[in-house]
Amino acid sequence: MRAGIIATGSFLPERRLTNHDLERMVDTSDEWIVERTGIRERRIANEGEASSDLGARAARAALERAGLAPDDIGLLIVATGTPDRLFPSTAARVADLLGLERTCGAFDLLAACAGFNYGLEVAARMVESGRYRYVLLIGAEVLSRFVNYEDRTTCILFGDGAGAAVIGPVADGYGVLDSQLYADGSLANLLEIPAGGSLRPASEETVASGLHYIVMSGREVFRHAVERLAEACQEILARNGFDVSDVDLFVGHQANARILRAVAERIGLPESALFMNIDRYGNTSSASVPIAFDELAREGKLDDGALVLTAGFGGGFVWATSIVRWGGDARNGAR
Ligand code: ACO
Repeated sequence: MRAGIIATGSFLPERRLTNHDLERMVDTSDEWIVERTGIRERRIANEGEASSDLGARAARAALERAGLAPDDIGLLIVATGTPDRLFPSTAARVADLLGLERTCGAFDLLAACAGFNYGLEVAARMVESGRYRYVLLIGAEVLSRFVNYEDRTTCILFGDGAGAAVIGPVADGYGVLDSQLYADGSLANLLEIPAGGSLRPASEETVASGLHYIVMSGREVFRHAVERLAEACQEILARNGFDVSDVDLFVGHQANARILRAVAERIGLPESALFMNIDRYGNTSSASVPIAFDELAREGKLDDGALVLTAGFGGGFVWATSIVRWGGDARNGAR
């Protein structure tokens, strides 16, 4: 059995934080941010709204588009680096918000900005095994709670949002054709939230030092992201017998327009096949790829049979790629 993306949904908070707003908060400029990152604005969740709230809204939209009821879902996975709490899981609360009582398993998956790409491999193989017919895969982040708005090197990058995908059976030749996951934990300190976990528990001192916020060596992350993503994309294309010219669309994690352009250039992908919406949402970590898929699907830009290369890279470091043949819903449309 083949598994693919049956339907997508997304939710972006209404509140916008523009580059001009940031100019009033830190020593930066709209010009610098646009030139170095491609970002013009990002969305910020309302007070009291957690990753689970955003994730549940995206999930409802995906279920509606799939023509499924929540209790058709056998397994719910929430990829997030900004969980509601350390535990219980964000996924358990999303299940509750969707009214799923004891009908499905739910767990969080932590692979930072590669979370959705990691989850795609997990969800697709779960469906292929025949164990679950439909898996709901959500990427949900409220990064604004973990951003130090006095640190100009990070606060310009991140935004809040959620995307969701229903993974289910598709016709032969369609779906998640192949995926590859990678990890290199030796470089963890280049991008991390240093304190608040068991390694370095929260204390007055860690809070005073801002160690509960995202800390990043931007230039180093940039270099590794470009190199690892380009290698990984080339590897997965080659081992499936595809040339880069076969790729209709590259849906990469939206971290930085320059990272995406550099990867495209290294692998020889034309700019016309490169999807970008980072100008409007910034880096929404594990939510960026499903938000991108949802935007493309709603705008009718994903033709049945399109070959999509997708990839994500994030803190860990962890990174992942998949090749997806879009469409082929084995149910012949909605239920
Ligand atoms: N406004 C103005 N100047 C700034 C700002 C800012 N917001 N931030 C940094 N600068 C300054 C620096 O202080 C530095 O000044 P100096 O030369 O006097 O020391 C100068 O700009 C250049 O800084 P760099 O860090 O070298 O700038 P770079 O071109 O690398 O851009 C950025 C920084 C945008 C963070 C880039 O490195 C990046 O995007 N890295 C990837 C990080 C990322 O995306 N992380 C997210 C998670 S992982 C992922 O999703 C891939």
